[in-house]
Amino acid sequence: MKELYLLGATGSIGTQVLDIIKQHPAMFKVVTMTANHRIEALRHLIDEFHPEFVCVGEESVAQALKTDYPSLSIGFGALGLITAATWNQDHRNTLLVNALVGISGLIPTVEAIKIKRDIALANKETLVVAGDIINQLLNENHVTLYPIDSEHSAIWQCLNGESPKSIKRLIITASGGTFRDYLRSHLETVTVEAALKHPNWSMGNKITIDSATMMNKGFEVIEAYHLFHIAPDKIETIIHRESIIHSMVEFNDHSIIAQLSDHDMRLPISYALFYPSRVDNPVRSLNLAKIGKLSFEDVSLDRYPCLKYAYLALNQGGNACAILNAANEAAVDLFLHYQISFLTIETIIGEAMSETPWIQNPTLEQLIHTDESVKNVIYQRYKKG
Ligand SMILES: NC(=O)c1ccc[n+]([C@@H]2O[C@H](COP(=O)([O-])OP(=O)(O)OC[C@H]3O[C@@H](n4cnc5c(N)ncnc54)[C@H](OP(=O)(O)O)[C@@H]3O)[C@@H](O)[C@H]2O)c1
Repeated sequence: MKELYLLGATGSIGTQVLDIIKQHPAMFKVVTMTANHRIEALRHLIDEFHPEFVCVGEESVAQALKTDYPSLSIGFGALGLITAATWNQDHRNTLLVNALVGISGLIPTVEAIKIKRDIALANKETLVVAGDIINQLLNENHVTLYPIDSEHSAIWQCLNGESPKSIKRLIITASGGTFRDYLRSHLETVTVEAALKHPNWSMGNKITIDSATMMNKGFEVIEAYHLFHIAPDKIETIIHRESIIHSMVEFNDHSIIAQLSDHDMRLPISYALFYPSRVDNPVRSLNLAKIGKLSFEDVSLDRYPCLKYAYLALNQGGNACAILNAANEAAVDLFLHYQISFLTIETIIGEAMSETPWIQNPTLEQLIHTDESVKNVIYQRYKKG
């Protein structure tokens, strides 16, 4: 039985991980779980999965939980997340599943790698901010990282057994997000509620906004660079409205291999959890005749400046991707709290990238400092009241 340490248990990915686990009770035991604010949901999970340790956002909530669950170990905040990721340090056959959102996932991942715990990673911001450092730590500690993002799971599946030398390019597919049929002029006035209606996927709020701006696709390009060690100019994106092909790889002989399935995250999650086995899951089988046609469109970097900024940051290297991520996190948070308009998200990111000092070879501490200082500047400038 494999022990799972699940960060972000109450989120969109976290609950789907638990959905898979419920179908394989003899295979996995959930040992730790974390939530931030959805405490009622966490209580249900504690009752169902009986973890040894849970972490919540606030100390007062941790104290209240302790009254109701006296035998449960409970932590809170950033330190609690590290404890959840590194609990039972000496155990083997363990897996950290990181389904946190934002930079909160970075340090717990780093600490888990240091104790040689393998990682199933949904939290893309970890690789966006600190991909070079994470790769170095993975190598030093002989730890394996399994991607959960559907595009990277697709590329991983396409690459099975292929030589990295034979890769000509990666083609990452994009649904186009909520506003794919809007003219840019229409984006001036779009609301938070409209932005949260993704055409194909049901996801957490932040990634849904990132999909609408295409920053999510930019993050996936950066993630792919770190996961598959492919030069940025060999990583392309294409709009594929149906979200049936989750990404493709073209090889030197011009053969393209694609991975197709229904758009359901439980497939990439179970591929990461059970790798190298493939197991049955609740994902619907594709009815290709019913689907009929698959469509593809070029992505315009003028239409989607956030994607352009992501390539720019990746090519700049250093702390540029940390600047990009911090600006995006702050801007999306401000948009979700009705403080700025949708298009101001990209304005803020552009400002941060041109104003923030660049560091060529940042340490982890410098990346964290970059994150904090970029966010401080943005909140001071744009937060009302
Ligand atoms: N959803 C998808 O289909 C999907 C697909 C591919 C990749 N991803 C990536 O997977 C990650 C998770 O996405 P999601 O959609 O599952 O997000 P989500 O639904 O917002 O869930 C995020 C989880 O993290 C917790 N959390 C949020 N902020 C936190 C903080 N500051 N400290 C500690 N915990 C915090 C939340 O707790 P509460 O519930 O208590 O707020 C929740 O458990 C993201 O990096 C996303 O880009 C998601």
